[in-house]
Amino acid sequence: MEKKDILILGIESSCDETSVAVVKNGREVLSMVTNTQIDIHKLYGGVVPEIASRNHVMNIDTVYTEALAQANVSIDDIDAIAVTYGAGLLGALIVGVNFAKALAYMTGKPLIAVNHIEGHIAANYIAHAELKPPFACLIVSGGHTALVEMESFVKRKLIGTTTDDAIGEAFDKVARECGLEYPGGPNVQKQAESGEVKYKFTNMDKEKIKDFNFSYSGLKTAVINFIHNHKQRGEEISVPDICASFQAEAVGQVVSKCKFALEKFGYNKIILAGGVSANTYLRNEMDKMAESIGAKVYYPPLKLCTDNAAMIASAGYFNFIEGKGIADPKTLVPTSNIEL
Ligand code: KG4
Ligand code: ZN
Repeated sequence: MEKKDILILGIESSCDETSVAVVKNGREVLSMVTNTQIDIHKLYGGVVPEIASRNHVMNIDTVYTEALAQANVSIDDIDAIAVTYGAGLLGALIVGVNFAKALAYMTGKPLIAVNHIEGHIAANYIAHAELKPPFACLIVSGGHTALVEMESFVKRKLIGTTTDDAIGEAFDKVARECGLEYPGGPNVQKQAESGEVKYKFTNMDKEKIKDFNFSYSGLKTAVINFIHNHKQRGEEISVPDICASFQAEAVGQVVSKCKFALEKFGYNKIILAGGVSANTYLRNEMDKMAESIGAKVYYPPLKLCTDNAAMIASAGYFNFIEGKGIADPKTLVPTSNIEL
């Protein structure tokens, strides 16, 4: 390794994945070790915050040790420690943040506080070695549906945001209503693959696009009411058809707003970030739309779409080299809600 290389240790514990990674120069993953709690939370139909926190406590030290071992480095080789400080489940965040604070305090290494969504965006820097701002970015996660312009690696401008439910939340609620297991999003996608787009739940696509904000509560409620009404009348419902119809409408909204934004602001690059960017139908529809107007879509590989510490280390790197996000290891406080 050349002397000028910068190694960042990333730590992520905002929801139900305990993850630690070592990333070189913001783009090259030397190791990424993740302990997922999906099988535990599946039993409850969703993430139970208290159980998530306890499992982070039990696993973080092993995950950390394994991440250093797999990267074949020691903590002395690390230049800075990056940690998700929000948004997320508070008790879960506390585990990663306190671990990072103790490590930074003990070693005297800089501590970098990373916004989880900034991490999801940075997953694309790992996946696409040449990618650099400016570009438009669609954030589709469990907590957000938003369009931002990345002006630089550390500066972004909000174009449109979530007015009620986020797209991931809508996928998860529809999944639950259809009796599908947690995590809902991937299971809705799977069901949709064998279904047909038969139903029209809202008139969203007929409305003229007036702004870049996103709304999913109307669609979510319409699907829930549709299922309840059919069940009350004792009628059969087709879960695959409902999922296919819901997915088409949910994805249709983001695709048409992205098209409008690309045309209006003249961007030729748009990147996808957040858990819902793992959705194959969304990726395909975005590709088709972009191709039709001469733009290009970038998205991370599946393993970097879901929560992981490599993306946090990458975001940490770009902050670190700009002198941004440096936190005090004695006082950094995790925050459950932070601005995009
Ligand atoms: O970005 P993320 O980790 O959430 C936040 O950081 O807020 O993403 C989690 C969300 C969940 O709502 C999950 O159901 C959804 O991403 N998701 C998907 C898929 N994979 C994950 N939604 C639709 N299709 C998928 N394949
Ligand atoms: Zn996430």
